[in-house]
Amino acid sequence: MGSKKNPNKMNQKIFIKTFGCQMNEYDSNRIFDSVKKIGYEKTDNYEEANCYLLNTCHIRDKAKEKVYSEIGRVKKIFRSRKKPLVIIAGCVAQAENQEMLKREPYIDFVIGPQSYHKINDTILNYTKKKKKIEETEFDAVSKFKYLSKIKNEAGKVSSFLTIQEGCDKFCHFCVVPYTRGPEYSRPFKQILDEAKYLVDNGAKEIILLGQNVNAYDNLGYRLSDLILNIEKLPEIKRIRYTTSHPKDMTEDLIELYKTSKKLMPLVHLPVQSGSNKILKSMNRKHTIEEYLNIFDKLKEINPKIEFSSDFIIGYPGEEDKDFKDTFSLIENVKFINSYSFIFSPRPGTLAESLELIEKKISIERLEKIQNILFENQIQMNKSLQGKVIDVLVENLTDDKSKVFGRSEYMTSVIFNGKKNDIGKIVQVRIKDSNRNTLFGEVKTNSDQKVA
Ligand code: SAM
Ligand code: SF4
Ligand code: F3S
Repeated sequence: MGSKKNPNKMNQKIFIKTFGCQMNEYDSNRIFDSVKKIGYEKTDNYEEANCYLLNTCHIRDKAKEKVYSEIGRVKKIFRSRKKPLVIIAGCVAQAENQEMLKREPYIDFVIGPQSYHKINDTILNYTKKKKKIEETEFDAVSKFKYLSKIKNEAGKVSSFLTIQEGCDKFCHFCVVPYTRGPEYSRPFKQILDEAKYLVDNGAKEIILLGQNVNAYDNLGYRLSDLILNIEKLPEIKRIRYTTSHPKDMTEDLIELYKTSKKLMPLVHLPVQSGSNKILKSMNRKHTIEEYLNIFDKLKEINPKIEFSSDFIIGYPGEEDKDFKDTFSLIENVKFINSYSFIFSPRPGTLAESLELIEKKISIERLEKIQNILFENQIQMNKSLQGKVIDVLVENLTDDKSKVFGRSEYMTSVIFNGKKNDIGKIVQVRIKDSNRNTLFGEVKTNSDQKVA
């Protein structure tokens, strides 16, 4: 790439701020892997940055305003300094493109999620010509072809790996098909090569990512084939995937829960609503019966499997009865960890023009849903007190006095481990818990007798 062209090589510092989903986190890491080639170092300190990149999310309300207020902060910080190069990346950049450059002259260029293969050249060209640029083509093939040539240097115990991008499902509430473009599955071998590289850099867990990760299909290779191949890497201890769609929960994937030793028993499967009427009006392409059928099959295969989900509350047309159906579904499935939000009308989507239900009602319903979801989470964590669980250790805690890791169900665990436990699976006896975290101690030999 253009490394020879950059006159200021090694003097550049980039500050990257990321909003949104794990796919944006993956992209931000990969953007950094790319700009390193033209001399950028990463900084966690705003003030020393000469490039400020904001990777944005458009999924709910106020996304745009968040970006402009963030730019306002940057402007203030740099009022008496040399202005940094300001880049807006991600889903708001894709959706708003030229509008952003017009509204906020402080922005130098906008680049959409499928144009990151152009990031180095765009920076170099901008530095030379100072011409405002917008790069918002959908070109997932070039993006991943380019990124696969640059090593993924995330080097984390638990590393993200995007395998699929975009969405063809067009749920009526969702902007993703417009901001991430059509569904695209990366070539099978390209992904396995990246997995190996992540392992060489210390990864012990790989989280496969996609807006519709279980729709992955590359020349007949499915998500189940990827998992089976990645689990052959001896260093890999755990595999997860997110986010999946009920429609693509195929038999091969379900069967994998019987045979796989490394696939974790937490299934994140967004349902959105417990009412078939609402699901139909959302264009979700699945019914509650189909959803429960997946749940039953998985529980039969492995009773240890737990579910988590996403819920949209107060979707247009949601009546008391529909809300009660959602509530009953939660009581029935006992999701252990879920996201729930009030419906937010998004520009360009079909649901944008639907008549909203009263805000007060939506707020009350959200509160009720969150109470039960949180209670499930608290009970699940409480039920582990006194038990010994496997924890994959990710890092030291901030004060370095303990270690932090995750249970098989992705719950944070803090315990009295050591630095050399990082990257290992340690057996921990759980002593205490709150909604989000388990607290424990390394299992001792005397513990073993009790266990
Ligand atoms: N592909 C996944 C699926 O099919 O469920 C979801 C991906 S989306 C990035 C993550 C979550 O954002 C969705 O599951 C949904 O609950 C929420 N979401 C999307 N659009 C929304 C909207 N307009 N209002 C509120 N929540 C929304
Ligand atoms: Fe959005 Fe997921 Fe629906 Fe695609 S399947 S439109 S990403 S909610
Ligand atoms: Fe947000 Fe784009 Fe992810 S809209 S949730 S960053 S796909």
